Amino acid sequence: MNAPCDPGAQTPILDLAADFPILSRPVHGRRLAYLDNGATTQKPAAVIEAEARFYRESNANIHRGVHWLSQHATELYDGARATVQRFLNAARADEIVFTRGTTEAINLVAQSWGRPRLAAGDEILLSTMEHHSNIVPWQLVCEQTGAVLKVIPVRDNGELDMAAFAGLLGERTRLLAITHVSNALGTVNPVAKMTRRAHEMGAVVLVDGAQAVAHQAVDVQAIGCDFYAFSGHKLYGPTGIGALYGRAELLRHMPPWQGGGDMIRTVAFDNTTFAPPPQRFEAGTPNIAGAIALAAAIDYVQGVGLARIHVHEQALLDYGTRALAAIPGVRLVGTAERKAGILSFLVDGIHPHDLGTILDAEGVAIRAGHHCAMPLMTRFGIPGTARASLGLYNGLADLDALVAAIHKAQELFGTRGGTASGNGRVA
Ligand code: ALA
Repeated sequence: MNAPCDPGAQTPILDLAADFPILSRPVHGRRLAYLDNGATTQKPAAVIEAEARFYRESNANIHRGVHWLSQHATELYDGARATVQRFLNAARADEIVFTRGTTEAINLVAQSWGRPRLAAGDEILLSTMEHHSNIVPWQLVCEQTGAVLKVIPVRDNGELDMAAFAGLLGERTRLLAITHVSNALGTVNPVAKMTRRAHEMGAVVLVDGAQAVAHQAVDVQAIGCDFYAFSGHKLYGPTGIGALYGRAELLRHMPPWQGGGDMIRTVAFDNTTFAPPPQRFEAGTPNIAGAIALAAAIDYVQGVGLARIHVHEQALLDYGTRALAAIPGVRLVGTAERKAGILSFLVDGIHPHDLGTILDAEGVAIRAGHHCAMPLMTRFGIPGTARASLGLYNGLADLDALVAAIHKAQELFGTRGGTASGNGRVA
Protein backbone atom coordinates (compact mmCIF):
# COMPACT_ATOMS: atom_id res chain seq x y z
CA MET A 1 0.00 0.00 0.00
CA ASN A 2 2.51 2.57 -1.10
CA ALA A 3 1.59 5.51 -3.22
CA PRO A 4 -0.98 4.66 -5.89
CA CYS A 5 0.42 2.29 -8.52
CA ASP A 6 -0.47 4.86 -11.15
CA PRO A 7 1.31 8.04 -10.07
CA GLY A 8 -1.00 10.05 -12.32
CA ALA A 9 -4.11 8.83 -10.55
CA GLN A 10 -5.38 11.72 -8.48
CA THR A 11 -9.06 10.90 -8.37
CA PRO A 12 -10.99 7.83 -7.31
CA ILE A 13 -11.62 5.52 -10.23
CA LEU A 14 -14.41 3.21 -9.08
CA ASP A 15 -18.14 3.79 -8.98
CA LEU A 16 -19.58 0.61 -7.51
CA ALA A 17 -22.11 1.76 -4.90
CA ALA A 18 -24.95 0.47 -7.10
CA ASP A 19 -23.70 -3.09 -6.52
CA PHE A 20 -24.47 -2.72 -2.80
CA PRO A 21 -28.22 -2.60 -2.10
CA ILE A 22 -27.93 -1.20 1.43
CA LEU A 23 -26.12 1.91 0.25
CA SER A 24 -29.27 3.21 -1.41
CA ARG A 25 -31.23 3.29 1.85
CA PRO A 26 -31.38 6.66 3.52
CA VAL A 27 -30.42 6.93 7.20
CA HIS A 28 -32.14 9.61 9.30
CA GLY A 29 -33.58 10.88 6.03
CA ARG A 30 -30.11 11.49 4.61
CA ARG A 31 -28.00 9.85 1.96
CA LEU A 32 -25.87 7.26 3.76
CA ALA A 33 -22.14 7.95 3.76
CA TYR A 34 -20.91 4.62 5.06
CA LEU A 35 -17.40 5.15 6.43
CA ASP A 36 -17.20 2.28 8.92
CA ASN A 37 -15.62 -0.31 6.68
CA GLY A 38 -12.94 -1.11 9.24
CA ALA A 39 -15.71 -2.47 11.47
CA THR A 40 -17.52 -4.30 8.72
CA THR A 41 -18.11 -3.84 5.01
CA GLN A 42 -21.43 -3.83 3.19
CA LYS A 43 -22.26 -6.73 0.91
CA PRO A 44 -22.70 -6.65 -2.85
CA ALA A 45 -25.83 -8.24 -4.32
CA ALA A 46 -23.64 -11.04 -5.68
CA VAL A 47 -22.67 -12.11 -2.15
CA ILE A 48 -26.19 -11.81 -0.76
CA GLU A 49 -27.44 -13.88 -3.68
CA ALA A 50 -24.71 -16.51 -3.30
CA GLU A 51 -25.71 -17.14 0.31
CA ALA A 52 -29.44 -17.19 -0.51
CA ARG A 53 -28.83 -19.43 -3.52
CA PHE A 54 -27.03 -21.97 -1.37
CA TYR A 55 -30.02 -22.27 0.95
CA ARG A 56 -32.48 -22.20 -1.95
CA GLU A 57 -30.75 -24.76 -4.17
CA SER A 58 -27.87 -26.59 -2.49
CA ASN A 59 -28.37 -26.84 1.26
CA ALA A 60 -27.19 -30.05 2.93
CA ASN A 61 -24.51 -30.95 5.44
CA ILE A 62 -21.05 -31.67 4.09
CA HIS A 63 -18.70 -34.66 4.29
CA ARG A 64 -21.37 -36.85 5.84
CA GLY A 65 -24.09 -37.66 3.35
CA VAL A 66 -24.05 -40.15 0.57
CA HIS A 67 -26.91 -38.31 -1.09
CA TRP A 68 -26.53 -35.99 -4.04
CA LEU A 69 -27.25 -32.73 -2.23
CA SER A 70 -24.64 -33.47 0.42
CA GLN A 71 -22.04 -34.21 -2.21
CA HIS A 72 -23.01 -31.06 -4.07
CA ALA A 73 -22.71 -28.94 -0.90
CA THR A 74 -19.34 -30.57 -0.15
CA GLU A 75 -18.08 -29.67 -3.62
CA LEU A 76 -19.17 -26.05 -3.14
CA TYR A 77 -17.51 -25.88 0.29
CA ASP A 78 -14.28 -27.42 -1.00
CA GLY A 79 -14.44 -25.04 -3.95
CA ALA A 80 -14.67 -22.12 -1.52
CA ARG A 81 -11.52 -23.34 0.20
CA ALA A 82 -9.72 -23.47 -3.15
CA THR A 83 -10.88 -19.90 -3.83
CA VAL A 84 -9.38 -18.72 -0.53
CA GLN A 85 -6.18 -20.63 -1.33
CA ARG A 86 -5.82 -18.81 -4.66
CA PHE A 87 -6.77 -15.49 -3.06
CA LEU A 88 -3.90 -15.74 -0.56
CA ASN A 89 -1.62 -17.59 -2.99
CA ALA A 90 -1.22 -20.44 -0.52
CA ALA A 91 0.65 -23.41 -1.91
CA ARG A 92 -2.06 -25.92 -1.01
CA ALA A 93 -5.79 -25.93 -0.29
CA ASP A 94 -5.26 -27.91 2.92
CA GLU A 95 -3.35 -24.93 4.30
CA ILE A 96 -6.66 -23.06 4.56
CA VAL A 97 -8.77 -23.62 7.69
CA PHE A 98 -12.21 -22.04 7.79
CA THR A 99 -12.88 -20.25 11.07
CA ARG A 100 -15.51 -17.85 12.41
CA GLY A 101 -13.16 -15.00 11.63
CA THR A 102 -9.79 -13.52 12.50
CA THR A 103 -10.36 -13.79 16.25
CA GLU A 104 -11.06 -17.50 16.13
CA ALA A 105 -8.12 -18.05 13.77
CA ILE A 106 -5.71 -16.37 16.20
CA ASN A 107 -7.16 -18.29 19.15
CA LEU A 108 -6.70 -21.49 17.18
CA VAL A 109 -3.00 -20.75 16.71
CA ALA A 110 -2.63 -19.69 20.35
CA GLN A 111 -4.19 -22.88 21.68
CA SER A 112 -3.05 -25.41 19.12
CA TRP A 113 0.39 -24.12 18.16
CA GLY A 114 1.26 -22.01 21.21
CA ARG A 115 -0.06 -23.84 24.24
CA PRO A 116 1.67 -27.18 23.63
CA ARG A 117 4.98 -25.60 22.63
CA LEU A 118 5.55 -22.54 24.76
CA ALA A 119 7.36 -22.77 28.07
CA ALA A 120 8.18 -20.43 30.93
CA GLY A 121 10.36 -17.57 29.73
CA ASP A 122 9.56 -18.01 26.04
CA GLU A 123 8.70 -14.72 24.40
CA ILE A 124 5.81 -13.71 22.17
CA LEU A 125 6.55 -10.51 20.32
CA LEU A 126 3.67 -8.29 19.27
CA SER A 127 3.15 -4.56 18.92
CA THR A 128 1.42 -1.69 20.68
CA MET A 129 -0.92 -1.27 17.70
CA GLU A 130 -2.46 -4.75 17.90
CA HIS A 131 -6.20 -5.23 18.04
CA HIS A 132 -7.33 -6.89 21.27
CA SER A 133 -7.84 -10.08 19.27
CA ASN A 134 -4.10 -10.25 18.68
CA ILE A 135 -3.28 -9.50 22.33
CA VAL A 136 -5.72 -11.32 24.58
CA PRO A 137 -5.32 -14.83 23.08
CA TRP A 138 -1.57 -14.49 23.72
CA GLN A 139 -2.13 -13.25 27.26
CA LEU A 140 -4.26 -16.33 27.89
CA VAL A 141 -1.57 -18.61 26.51
CA CYS A 142 1.06 -16.81 28.58
CA GLU A 143 -0.96 -17.56 31.71
CA GLN A 144 -1.21 -21.19 30.63
CA THR A 145 2.47 -21.67 29.78
CA GLY A 146 4.54 -19.06 31.60
CA ALA A 147 5.55 -17.41 28.31
CA VAL A 148 5.84 -13.62 28.35
CA LEU A 149 4.74 -10.85 26.00
CA LYS A 150 7.19 -8.36 24.53
CA VAL A 151 5.79 -5.29 22.84
CA ILE A 152 7.18 -3.34 19.87
CA PRO A 153 6.55 0.36 20.50
CA VAL A 154 4.86 2.71 18.05
CA ARG A 155 6.34 6.04 16.97
CA ASP A 156 4.44 9.31 17.10
CA ASN A 157 3.40 9.06 13.45
CA GLY A 158 1.91 5.61 13.99
CA GLU A 159 4.73 3.56 12.49
CA LEU A 160 6.38 0.69 14.32
CA ASP A 161 9.71 1.48 15.92
CA MET A 162 11.77 -0.87 13.77
CA ALA A 163 14.96 -0.31 15.75
CA ALA A 164 13.12 -1.41 18.87
CA PHE A 165 11.76 -4.40 16.96
CA ALA A 166 15.29 -5.47 16.07
CA GLY A 167 16.31 -5.09 19.70
CA LEU A 168 13.37 -7.05 21.07
CA LEU A 169 13.80 -9.96 18.70
CA GLY A 170 15.96 -12.45 20.52
CA GLU A 171 16.75 -16.07 21.11
CA ARG A 172 13.75 -16.46 23.39
CA THR A 173 11.35 -15.09 20.77
CA ARG A 174 9.18 -18.01 19.72
CA LEU A 175 6.46 -16.10 17.93
CA LEU A 176 5.98 -12.76 16.21
CA ALA A 177 2.26 -11.89 16.08
CA ILE A 178 1.82 -8.72 14.08
CA THR A 179 -0.97 -6.89 12.33
CA HIS A 180 -0.60 -6.28 8.61
CA VAL A 181 -2.65 -3.07 8.79
CA SER A 182 -3.58 -1.22 11.98
CA ASN A 183 -7.35 -0.94 12.36
CA ALA A 184 -7.01 2.23 14.41
CA LEU A 185 -4.26 4.07 12.52
CA GLY A 186 -4.21 2.57 9.04
CA THR A 187 -0.46 1.94 9.24
CA VAL A 188 0.71 -0.76 6.84
CA ASN A 189 3.47 -2.74 8.50
CA PRO A 190 6.45 -4.20 6.62
CA VAL A 191 5.36 -7.74 7.38
CA ALA A 192 7.58 -9.48 4.80
CA LYS A 193 10.69 -7.80 6.16
CA MET A 194 9.64 -8.49 9.74
CA THR A 195 8.94 -12.12 8.89
CA ARG A 196 12.43 -12.51 7.44
CA ARG A 197 14.00 -11.05 10.56
CA ALA A 198 11.88 -13.21 12.85
CA HIS A 199 12.68 -16.36 10.87
CA GLU A 200 16.38 -15.57 11.13
CA MET A 201 15.91 -15.82 14.90
CA GLY A 202 13.97 -19.06 14.58
CA ALA A 203 10.58 -17.55 15.48
CA VAL A 204 7.25 -18.43 13.92
CA VAL A 205 5.22 -15.56 12.44
CA LEU A 206 1.48 -14.92 12.53
CA VAL A 207 0.07 -11.99 10.56
CA ASP A 208 -3.34 -10.53 11.42
CA GLY A 209 -4.70 -9.64 8.00
CA ALA A 210 -8.18 -8.51 9.05
CA GLN A 211 -7.67 -4.93 7.83
CA ALA A 212 -5.47 -5.79 4.87
CA VAL A 213 -7.14 -8.30 2.59
CA ALA A 214 -9.83 -5.96 1.25
CA HIS A 215 -7.34 -3.26 0.32
CA GLN A 216 -4.33 -4.93 -1.28
CA ALA A 217 -3.39 -8.23 -2.86
CA VAL A 218 -1.97 -10.58 -0.23
CA ASP A 219 0.51 -13.31 -1.11
CA VAL A 220 1.36 -15.43 1.90
CA GLN A 221 4.26 -17.09 0.10
CA ALA A 222 5.77 -13.71 -0.77
CA ILE A 223 5.32 -12.52 2.82
CA GLY A 224 6.76 -15.82 4.00
CA CYS A 225 4.66 -15.91 7.17
CA ASP A 226 3.64 -19.13 8.89
CA PHE A 227 0.07 -18.08 9.70
CA TYR A 228 -2.22 -15.45 8.19
CA ALA A 229 -5.70 -14.73 9.54
CA PHE A 230 -8.60 -12.77 8.06
CA SER A 231 -12.36 -12.27 8.34
CA GLY A 232 -14.92 -12.52 5.56
CA HIS A 233 -17.08 -9.66 6.76
CA LYS A 234 -14.35 -7.06 6.28
CA LEU A 235 -13.95 -8.35 2.72
CA TYR A 236 -17.54 -7.74 1.54
CA GLY A 237 -18.46 -11.26 2.67
CA PRO A 238 -20.70 -12.51 5.49
CA THR A 239 -20.09 -12.35 9.22
CA GLY A 240 -19.21 -15.56 11.04
CA ILE A 241 -16.74 -16.82 8.45
CA GLY A 242 -13.04 -16.25 8.02
CA ALA A 243 -9.92 -18.23 7.37
CA LEU A 244 -6.57 -19.14 8.77
CA TYR A 245 -3.70 -19.85 6.43
CA GLY A 246 -1.18 -22.13 8.12
CA ARG A 247 1.94 -23.57 6.56
CA ALA A 248 1.30 -27.29 5.99
CA GLU A 249 4.42 -28.28 7.86
CA LEU A 250 3.17 -26.53 11.00
CA LEU A 251 -0.51 -27.50 10.75
CA ARG A 252 0.47 -31.16 10.35
CA HIS A 253 2.05 -31.18 13.82
CA MET A 254 -0.63 -29.18 15.63
CA PRO A 255 -3.17 -30.99 17.82
CA PRO A 256 -6.88 -30.25 17.58
CA TRP A 257 -8.13 -27.42 19.74
CA GLN A 258 -11.83 -28.24 19.57
CA GLY A 259 -13.27 -31.75 19.49
CA GLY A 260 -16.40 -32.94 17.78
CA GLY A 261 -17.77 -34.33 14.58
CA ASP A 262 -15.91 -34.10 11.29
CA MET A 263 -12.46 -33.61 12.81
CA ILE A 264 -11.77 -37.26 13.63
CA ARG A 265 -10.59 -40.32 11.76
CA THR A 266 -11.85 -42.87 14.31
CA VAL A 267 -13.42 -42.56 17.75
CA ALA A 268 -13.27 -45.18 20.49
CA PHE A 269 -13.47 -44.72 24.24
CA ASP A 270 -9.88 -45.86 24.63
CA ASN A 271 -8.41 -44.14 21.60
CA THR A 272 -9.52 -41.44 19.18
CA THR A 273 -7.55 -40.51 16.08
CA PHE A 274 -7.81 -37.26 14.23
CA ALA A 275 -8.34 -36.20 10.65
CA PRO A 276 -5.50 -34.40 8.87
CA PRO A 277 -5.61 -30.62 8.45
CA PRO A 278 -7.72 -28.70 7.69
CA GLN A 279 -10.58 -30.96 8.92
CA ARG A 280 -8.73 -31.50 12.21
CA PHE A 281 -9.40 -27.84 13.00
CA GLU A 282 -13.01 -27.64 11.79
CA ALA A 283 -15.00 -29.50 14.45
CA GLY A 284 -18.76 -29.57 13.99
CA THR A 285 -20.86 -28.37 11.11
CA PRO A 286 -19.05 -25.37 9.67
CA ASN A 287 -20.55 -22.20 8.26
CA ILE A 288 -21.08 -23.79 4.85
CA ALA A 289 -23.19 -21.00 3.37
CA GLY A 290 -20.78 -18.44 4.79
CA ALA A 291 -17.77 -20.09 3.17
CA ILE A 292 -19.54 -20.18 -0.18
CA ALA A 293 -20.60 -16.53 0.13
CA LEU A 294 -17.05 -15.61 1.17
CA ALA A 295 -15.83 -17.19 -2.06
CA ALA A 296 -18.40 -15.06 -3.90
CA ALA A 297 -17.02 -11.97 -2.15
CA ILE A 298 -13.50 -12.91 -3.20
CA ASP A 299 -14.72 -13.39 -6.78
CA TYR A 300 -16.35 -9.95 -6.61
CA VAL A 301 -13.24 -8.22 -5.25
CA GLN A 302 -10.99 -9.95 -7.74
CA GLY A 303 -13.41 -9.08 -10.53
CA VAL A 304 -12.96 -5.41 -9.64
CA GLY A 305 -9.24 -5.97 -9.15
CA LEU A 306 -7.29 -5.33 -5.98
CA ALA A 307 -4.82 -3.10 -7.81
CA ARG A 308 -7.70 -0.84 -8.90
CA ILE A 309 -9.24 -0.91 -5.43
CA HIS A 310 -5.89 0.12 -4.02
CA VAL A 311 -5.51 3.07 -6.39
CA HIS A 312 -9.08 4.16 -5.70
CA GLU A 313 -8.77 4.01 -1.93
CA GLN A 314 -5.38 5.71 -1.89
CA ALA A 315 -6.85 8.60 -3.86
CA LEU A 316 -9.70 8.86 -1.35
CA LEU A 317 -7.26 8.62 1.55
CA ASP A 318 -5.23 11.44 0.10
CA TYR A 319 -8.32 13.58 -0.43
CA GLY A 320 -9.68 12.83 3.05
CA THR A 321 -6.33 13.46 4.75
CA ARG A 322 -6.03 16.89 3.13
CA ALA A 323 -9.65 17.76 3.87
CA LEU A 324 -9.45 16.84 7.55
CA ALA A 325 -6.06 18.46 8.09
CA ALA A 326 -7.52 21.69 6.70
CA ILE A 327 -10.28 21.88 9.31
CA PRO A 328 -9.24 24.03 12.27
CA GLY A 329 -9.34 21.96 15.46
CA VAL A 330 -9.02 18.58 13.76
CA ARG A 331 -5.99 16.41 14.47
CA LEU A 332 -5.17 13.23 12.60
CA VAL A 333 -3.93 10.29 14.63
CA GLY A 334 -1.72 8.08 12.50
CA THR A 335 0.23 9.63 9.66
CA ALA A 336 2.47 6.76 8.62
CA GLU A 337 4.17 6.83 5.25
CA ARG A 338 2.33 3.69 4.19
CA LYS A 339 -1.32 3.73 5.12
CA ALA A 340 -4.53 1.97 4.18
CA GLY A 341 -7.78 3.91 3.92
CA ILE A 342 -8.25 4.76 7.58
CA LEU A 343 -8.64 8.29 8.91
CA SER A 344 -8.47 8.38 12.69
CA PHE A 345 -8.92 11.83 14.13
CA LEU A 346 -9.81 14.04 17.07
CA VAL A 347 -11.81 17.23 17.05
CA ASP A 348 -10.85 19.70 19.75
CA GLY A 349 -13.51 20.07 22.41
CA ILE A 350 -15.74 17.25 21.15
CA HIS A 351 -15.57 13.73 22.55
CA PRO A 352 -15.32 11.14 19.76
CA HIS A 353 -18.58 9.50 20.89
CA ASP A 354 -20.44 12.81 20.74
CA LEU A 355 -18.94 13.44 17.33
CA GLY A 356 -20.02 10.00 16.15
CA THR A 357 -23.59 10.66 17.27
CA ILE A 358 -23.75 14.03 15.52
CA LEU A 359 -22.25 12.60 12.34
CA ASP A 360 -24.77 9.77 12.44
CA ALA A 361 -27.63 12.27 12.46
CA GLU A 362 -26.12 13.66 9.25
CA GLY A 363 -26.10 10.20 7.64
CA VAL A 364 -22.36 9.74 8.14
CA ALA A 365 -21.49 6.39 9.72
CA ILE A 366 -18.10 6.25 11.44
CA ARG A 367 -16.73 4.40 14.46
CA ALA A 368 -15.80 6.23 17.64
CA GLY A 369 -13.91 4.90 20.62
CA HIS A 370 -10.83 2.82 21.31
CA HIS A 371 -11.34 0.54 18.29
CA CYS A 372 -10.45 -2.55 20.37
CA ALA A 373 -6.92 -1.16 20.58
CA MET A 374 -6.81 0.20 24.13
CA PRO A 375 -3.01 -0.12 24.59
CA LEU A 376 -2.57 2.01 21.46
CA MET A 377 -4.93 4.68 22.80
CA THR A 378 -2.99 4.63 26.09
CA ARG A 379 0.23 5.08 24.09
CA PHE A 380 -1.19 8.26 22.56
CA GLY A 381 -2.74 9.40 25.84
CA ILE A 382 -6.24 9.57 24.40
CA PRO A 383 -9.46 7.71 25.28
CA GLY A 384 -10.26 7.05 21.66
CA THR A 385 -10.64 8.60 18.25
CA ALA A 386 -13.25 9.11 15.59
CA ARG A 387 -12.45 6.84 12.66
CA ALA A 388 -13.56 7.03 9.06
CA SER A 389 -12.55 3.87 7.22
CA LEU A 390 -12.84 3.50 3.47
CA GLY A 391 -14.15 0.81 1.20
CA LEU A 392 -14.23 0.29 -2.54
CA TYR A 393 -17.71 1.84 -2.91
CA ASN A 394 -16.85 5.12 -1.21
CA GLY A 395 -16.46 8.28 -3.22
CA LEU A 396 -15.55 11.92 -2.74
CA ALA A 397 -19.17 12.67 -1.81
CA ASP A 398 -18.80 10.51 1.31
CA LEU A 399 -15.75 12.46 2.43
CA ASP A 400 -17.43 15.76 1.62
CA ALA A 401 -20.36 14.64 3.79
CA LEU A 402 -17.91 13.78 6.57
CA VAL A 403 -16.31 17.22 6.42
CA ALA A 404 -19.67 19.00 6.35
CA ALA A 405 -20.86 16.97 9.34
CA ILE A 406 -17.70 17.81 11.32
CA HIS A 407 -18.35 21.52 10.63
CA LYS A 408 -21.89 21.01 11.88
CA ALA A 409 -20.62 19.36 15.08
CA GLN A 410 -18.18 22.21 15.66
CA GLU A 411 -21.02 24.69 15.21
CA LEU A 412 -23.16 22.81 17.74
CA PHE A 413 -20.27 22.78 20.23
CA GLY A 414 -19.27 26.35 19.47
CA THR A 415 -15.76 25.25 18.53
CA ARG A 416 -15.74 26.08 14.85
CA GLY A 417 -12.64 27.98 13.82
CA GLY A 418 -10.29 26.34 16.36
CA THR A 419 -6.65 25.94 15.55
CA ALA A 420 -5.97 23.51 12.73
CA SER A 421 -3.05 21.17 13.22
CA GLY A 422 -2.38 21.66 9.54
CA ASN A 423 0.42 19.13 9.51
CA GLY A 424 -1.92 16.33 10.47
CA ARG A 425 0.43 15.14 13.20
CA VAL A 426 -0.61 13.65 16.48
CA ALA A 427 -0.44 16.22 19.22
N1 ALA B 1 -12.02 -4.71 14.46
C1 ALA B 1 -13.12 -3.97 13.95
C2 ALA B 1 -12.85 -2.50 13.91
O1 ALA B 1 -11.71 -2.10 13.86
C3 ALA B 1 -14.39 -4.29 14.62
O2 ALA B 1 -13.76 -1.73 13.92
